[in-house]
Amino acid sequence: MKVLGISMGRKNERCDIYCKQVLMGVEAAAKASGKDIEVEFINTVTMDIGQCRGCGACSKAPDGKIKCILKDDYLELEEKVLDADGIIIAAPVYSVGIVGQLKNFLDRFGAAHDRASMIDEQNKRREDGRPLLDERYFKDRYCSYVAVGGAWTEDWTCLGLPMMHLFSCSQTMKVVGQINANDQGRKTSPFLDGKEGTCPVCHLNLLMVNGTDTVTCPVCGIHGKITLADGKLKVNFPPEQVKRARNTINGVNEHHAEIGEMMRICIPILQEKKEFLAEKKKEYMAYKPKWS
Ligand SMILES: Cc1cc2nc3c(=O)[nH]c(=O)nc-3n(C[C@H](O)[C@H](O)[C@H](O)COP(=O)(O)O)c2cc1C
Repeated sequence: MKVLGISMGRKNERCDIYCKQVLMGVEAAAKASGKDIEVEFINTVTMDIGQCRGCGACSKAPDGKIKCILKDDYLELEEKVLDADGIIIAAPVYSVGIVGQLKNFLDRFGAAHDRASMIDEQNKRREDGRPLLDERYFKDRYCSYVAVGGAWTEDWTCLGLPMMHLFSCSQTMKVVGQINANDQGRKTSPFLDGKEGTCPVCHLNLLMVNGTDTVTCPVCGIHGKITLADGKLKVNFPPEQVKRARNTINGVNEHHAEIGEMMRICIPILQEKKEFLAEKKKEYMAYKPKWS
């Protein structure tokens, strides 16, 4: 079994320390239980991981390997993640959310390795006798997150952990631990935060409200009923909602079906209006304001 620690902060600074602290814990637990666990650490701060350009090349995989055609360091990190069974990411909070490098990585990794699409594709490949997808895409993985921020006010780190969860959703990786390591501006040593949180799946406190008593966890996409009693706000997420969280197989299947439905509606319209849309597009392509 392989556990990979990824630090996206400055070398030898706080993200490195948190990440290594978790890896040391993994090694100690492995030693105590006699389990064969290999750990690996990587600091990505100088790696070149560019943004997804939305070209769709990754969804073709003619030889069974999902490959992004952008030639940068993403490919090296993707290989390491695919080889791992457990992943710990420690990343700095920049501008209230995750550092851009992690967003770039998860945009390129998540959609391309969506479990529902891959199961669907693998079944089609079996039927057609085409090369099967790499078995590593179907491995059940575990992950943990550490969001490291300087501010002591939690609202300055509030999108760190929720955005980190997006890394594990489409692969349905199980999140087994998380720390909002804020307050680094005053504290210097790592600490563990055992807070339960409002959502029973991601254990975070972010909610979407829509003027009714139904609220949504934006990380897991599940709905619950909100109540206020004795000055205490509670949200009840029923079990059927918990079962359809974004990081579950039901969750990714639901989204896969949504994309399928979008295609069913969109493709005939695109075909029917092909000439009109091509003409219309020309107007926008010809429009060249001063800065473009
Ligand atoms: C561009 C930039 C933006 C930042 N934005 C935030 C922020 O919104 N909230 C916060 O708590 N810390 C913020 N920080 C502080 C970092 O999260 C903090 O320095 C952290 O320790 C960086 O991780 P490292 O020490 O492993 O490099 C920011 C730092 C930089 C450089």
